Amino acid sequence: MSQTIVIRHAAQLLTMAGHTEKPATREAMSKLSVIENGSIIIQDGMILAVGTDKEIEQQYKTLLTTAEQIDATNKIVGPGLIDPHTHLVHAGTREHEYAMRLKGKSYMDIMNAGGGIHATTRATQQADFAMLYDQSKQRMDTFLCNGVTTIEAKSGYGLTLKDEIKQLEVAKKLNEDHPLDVVSTFMGAHAIPLDEKDAPEEFVDQIITEMIPEVAKKNLALFNDVFCERGVFTPEQSKRILEAGKEHGLTPKIHADEIEPYGGAELAAEVGAVSADHLLKTSDEGIKKLAENNVIGVLLPGTAFFLMAEFAQARKMIDQGVPVALSTDANPGSSPTLSLQFIMNLGCLKMEMTPEEVLVATTINAAHAIDCSETIGSLEIGKKGDLTIFNVPNYLMLSYQYGMNHVDTVIKSGIPVVRGQQLQA
Ligand code: NIG
Ligand code: FE
Repeated sequence: MSQTIVIRHAAQLLTMAGHTEKPATREAMSKLSVIENGSIIIQDGMILAVGTDKEIEQQYKTLLTTAEQIDATNKIVGPGLIDPHTHLVHAGTREHEYAMRLKGKSYMDIMNAGGGIHATTRATQQADFAMLYDQSKQRMDTFLCNGVTTIEAKSGYGLTLKDEIKQLEVAKKLNEDHPLDVVSTFMGAHAIPLDEKDAPEEFVDQIITEMIPEVAKKNLALFNDVFCERGVFTPEQSKRILEAGKEHGLTPKIHADEIEPYGGAELAAEVGAVSADHLLKTSDEGIKKLAENNVIGVLLPGTAFFLMAEFAQARKMIDQGVPVALSTDANPGSSPTLSLQFIMNLGCLKMEMTPEEVLVATTINAAHAIDCSETIGSLEIGKKGDLTIFNVPNYLMLSYQYGMNHVDTVIKSGIPVVRGQQLQA
């Protein structure tokens, strides 16, 4: 079906052009390539033309007479936001643990006592496909209404072959059925199951010999992630798991240095990970290694905020050349939010990032963190027609008026899927 849509008169069209080949670093992280009074044409789901309204009107006069027109006067238009780190598919919530943490219990103490990731694992193991599908679909609807058009989603609340596959199959089906795109990551190495606590090496072997081959055979994931943290997976175990994934075509990612410095960033560089995520406690050496090896630092300030921990040193990382992306880490334990816009606010207010940098970090650099920069992350000819129209007159407003949903319209592959903040049927 041929369908043409044109968005006209955007007060600012944030194209993010020029960062497709490699992720933006240092000063390039401030380059948004803004077109004032901009217009963009999407045809058959792809971007056909981008320019000033005058240029587009002159060049596409005939086409414009038949295209659906959306007026973006006094609004800004950017690439659909991309969330490169979520734990989308899970069952249940953990508000009682939140209340315990407010009274002083630590996140790791709760996990070591059988709660935390283990609590969500029990709930997810008990949930059937339909229940997981419905709960996750609701979260995807919310992501879309908040301007996000692509997310990454991890398994890791199954922890048995059957339940990990179940989680990944839910994500796969949702990706097929729902307008939001989902890119999957296998994360069997999210926790050592309680009944294998005394034999962690056996669980590592199980991940390597049973889970990874099956996930790869069924084509259920592109990435392989490990929670490399004291008391969870050691750097040695993490390395074995990530190397095994590589042999099956899964690109490494790491939950690195979240609770304490543990060599996670260094390991990310060593195994050629596409990203190292969290990095709250990463050492100076780790930062250097990330920069030298162009490993994307996916920072998750919602997690630091919610765990009442120190924030990652985004300013230092960017100044030293680490390509930085931002994400919600959406999960029921350490970051129960679906608002990437609030994460952008935190990036500015708590990690000394600029309004320009947080936009690059949630669009083109986020696309790089999930190996999708060829098709999404910027408004350039030939890329997917994924874009978000925000009801603000300039992009500074996005990080100034915080904790709000500024979305007006979301267009996914050329189709308006959210209008006036309402999901379209
Ligand atoms: O990214 N740190 C490990 N995994 C998640 C939290 C998962 C949970 O608490 O359920 C994270 O923070
Ligand atoms: Fe996470």
